[in-house]
Amino acid sequence: MFSAHHFHHLPSFSKKMAFFTASYYSSFTIIATFAVLALFTGSSSAQLSTDFYSKSCPKVFSTVQSVVKNSISVERRLGASLLRLHFHDCFVNGCDGSVLLDDTDSFTGEKTAGPNNRSIRGFKVVDDIKAAVEKACPGVVSCADILAIASRDSVVTLGGPDWDVKVGRRDSKTASFSDANSGVIPPPTSTLSNLINRFQAKGLSAKDMVALSGAHTIGQARCISFRDRIYNETNIDSSFAKTRQSQCPRNTGGRKNLAPLDLQTPTAFDNKYFNNLLDQKGLLHSDQILYDGGSTDSLVETYSKNDKTFDEDFVTAIIKMGDIDPLTGSSGEIRKNCRKPN
Ligand code: HEM
Ligand SMILES: *[C@@H]1O[C@H](CO)[C@@H](O)[C@H](O)[C@H]1NC(C)=O
Ligand SMILES: *[C@@H]1O[C@H](CO)[C@@H](O)[C@H](O)[C@H]1NC(C)=O
Repeated sequence: MFSAHHFHHLPSFSKKMAFFTASYYSSFTIIATFAVLALFTGSSSAQLSTDFYSKSCPKVFSTVQSVVKNSISVERRLGASLLRLHFHDCFVNGCDGSVLLDDTDSFTGEKTAGPNNRSIRGFKVVDDIKAAVEKACPGVVSCADILAIASRDSVVTLGGPDWDVKVGRRDSKTASFSDANSGVIPPPTSTLSNLINRFQAKGLSAKDMVALSGAHTIGQARCISFRDRIYNETNIDSSFAKTRQSQCPRNTGGRKNLAPLDLQTPTAFDNKYFNNLLDQKGLLHSDQILYDGGSTDSLVETYSKNDKTFDEDFVTAIIKMGDIDPLTGSSGEIRKNCRKPN
């Protein structure tokens, strides 16, 4: 290490320069140390960038986009399913592709955990994207990045906002059933403060949480996810409740019956979801709680009136979500098959 007292024999001017040099090197050392620390603690989202694959796989974006577009043209809901996979990936130990791993002899993965079991889908599309990307550039692009890119392409294809996706994430070698079940992904029965706290724990604000909930402008939910709300809650439009009840019996059956999260435009990425909330036509308890006399009411009103503000805040928030604890550098791996560690 440099330090000023090694230069005591020098004339005054040189001493000053030597001291300057020494402090310069100390600051450099401190900064370098922090950079190295950041690497090892996993908070290395600074390493993600939009041009990470510009040399190693220049076709990655066009390749992912074409598979996503084809899949959505076959079934529009797949756009919603891909977006949700990215959310459930990022909230459980960071955006590391862990949600995509099948169970192995050494671990039970996340696919059958409460928030995911019989609910998350889109794995076949991810396999198709991975196959196309592997063909273009073998062993280069991570499954975690595929989810981030496919989410953007889904939103754009369904009429929502566009943004530049940061990439450079690597894939985990393991997945955790118990971590996926630990409540990090909040259940639809959550209170508003639970929703805010769960997002806060991932570095996302209440505003980010409300904007990201706007993802429920697309996709479907199962009867089991909204049954209690349509039979027991009072902050719900009564004719809307009746309509939903007709496909979701109170006691048994119909568990798997689906209803659109946004009753107005279920396959268009727009701000109608927020209009529904103003009319007490939110499908999930966790949707309507965003407009129920609490601290997020005014944001819901703003988004319902202003699609552009919603789009901007959604983009800000989903980029932040994609920054949650990525694996970078030499951590993790680039999986060959998104369902299995190499
Ligand atoms: C705020 C907390 C959230 C809760 C409590 C929540 C809960 C749920 C539930 C219960 C479902 C229906 C699952 C089923 O019945 O099969 C669902 C679907 C969905 N969620 Fe969320 N969610 C939340 C936030 C988010 C976020 C942040 C995103 C993405 C940015 C998202 C995207 C979706 C999408 C797109 C669907 C439909 C998926 C499909 O049709 O395949 N959700 N969510
Ligand atoms: C997942 O759902 C299936 C069907 O409802 C059920 O049989 C299974 O026990 C569930 N798995 C877990 C881990 O809860
Ligand atoms: C509604 O509330 C009653 C009374 O608390 C409860 O027994 C029932 O399971 C709840 N859910 C439905 C779908 O009725």
